[in-house]
Amino acid sequence: MSDAVRVGEVAGLPEGSQTEVQVDGRSVVVVCFEGQYYALRNNCSHKDFPLLGGEVSRGRITCEKHGAQFELSSGKARTLPAVKPVQMYTTRVEDGVVYVQPL
Ligand code: FES
Repeated sequence: MSDAVRVGEVAGLPEGSQTEVQVDGRSVVVVCFEGQYYALRNNCSHKDFPLLGGEVSRGRITCEKHGAQFELSSGKARTLPAVKPVQMYTTRVEDGVVYVQPL
């Protein structure tokens, strides 16, 4: 199993922030939404396009390319044109630092 990747200090990752980290050579987007950290593969399942920077609301992140929405808690596609989920990662906070790890 891969080691956890340090994302940063909680203080630097406030509500609404988005950050990219590399986990096992793959880009992962970490989102702070309603006090929770969510980590998803930074790649839309519709086409090859990053999710980083997409609008976040109602627990979903929107792909800016064609507007598909993915649930932050599960990675499931909730609106077309995407139908497949995006890969999820686990997040944890330890001593004020956010970490991401493959599930
Ligand atoms: S690339 Fe994301 S919705 Fe098409």
